[in-house]
Amino acid sequence: MKTKILTTSEKDIREAAGIIAAGGLVAFPTETVYGLGANALDAKAVGAVYEAKGRPSDNPMIVHIARASDIGQLTPMLSEDIVSLIDNFWPGPLTLVLKKKPGVPDRTTGGLDTVAVRMPDSEAALRLITLADCPIAAPSANISGSPSPTRAKDVIADMDGRIDAIIAGDDCRVGIESTVLDMTGEVPTILRPGIITAENIEAAINKEVKYDEALLRGAELTSIDPGAAAGSDAGEASAKDGPEAFRPKSPGMKYKHYAPKAQMTVIEGRRDKVKSEIERLKALNERLGLKVGVILFEEKAFIEAAHDFFSKLRDLDEEGVDLILAGAMSDRDGVGFAVMNRMLKSAGYNIARV
Ligand code: TXA
Ligand code: MG
Repeated sequence: MKTKILTTSEKDIREAAGIIAAGGLVAFPTETVYGLGANALDAKAVGAVYEAKGRPSDNPMIVHIARASDIGQLTPMLSEDIVSLIDNFWPGPLTLVLKKKPGVPDRTTGGLDTVAVRMPDSEAALRLITLADCPIAAPSANISGSPSPTRAKDVIADMDGRIDAIIAGDDCRVGIESTVLDMTGEVPTILRPGIITAENIEAAINKEVKYDEALLRGAELTSIDPGAAAGSDAGEASAKDGPEAFRPKSPGMKYKHYAPKAQMTVIEGRRDKVKSEIERLKALNERLGLKVGVILFEEKAFIEAAHDFFSKLRDLDEEGVDLILAGAMSDRDGVGFAVMNRMLKSAGYNIARV
């Protein structure tokens, strides 16, 4: 398939919208990461998204809308809390998991009776949805398992030849995917952390928010969680101890994710020790002829880390490094926690403590 590379001009977005309306697939920029879009109400088009990504079909998609008032097509009931969240955070990187209406195809929601909805904060995305005149289902526009694309060139690298068109816009402002918040239970529950934090959400609805158990399991493997089993003797955790052993509520959480081609280890501990351990491991491996890449953000630069993390992984792969050494970010529940969630998955929970 020949993939058309489009711009964010009105004319091109109109063309892209026509492709979506006709059941085709278009990748487009959002403020978080690039999405791979199809008409969310067209089961066949959604099926083609799974195919283009090589994605397991029980992993549901986020449905993107351009006006809050379009949510009525998707869900039968809005609580006061849901409305407050929409008022506070949309358009923006917060996805709400809600009860679904029967008209939303099972293909879109992976057979669940809930639907994930968000309104992206990106002019091109909003314009595309408006012109296509349908809600757009869009997972991140990467081949399943590889790092999410935050730049047009990343999308082209993964999707050229597999989809109808790519809207090549600016780099994504946020750099990690939206916070996914399940609003269908008694307590609002974060299924995937993002730059909108538990604290931000609690402030908006004046109510406690919890984390899905699978997320806490991920954090437990590091000393980020004070309740962690810090004494694990080898100072190392293996993937089999990871959240994979759980049955997470967000089906996407159980799959291999964000993995670079290189082997990757996260080094965790006191800042100075982390730095020297990275130096030591780098020198050791380089002496034996391996190519080593390092990801070490400033200690509290969480927003910057979110912005750069996926693009760094992709750049290091492109440089052909054999090994990536990444310094852990210590943040219990904020944006740093969201970055660590991606970092640990990328490394397959391969952690070394110093
Ligand atoms: O920022 C984002 O959210 C990006 C952009 C393109 O909007 N999209 C994105 O989609 O990250 P994707 O498919 O890569 O991740 C969607 C996540 C998955 O972990 C999926 O399991 C979860 O949301 N999800 C979707 N629908 C759900 C539902 N009904 N219940 C629970 N989790 C759901
Ligand atoms: Mg994804």
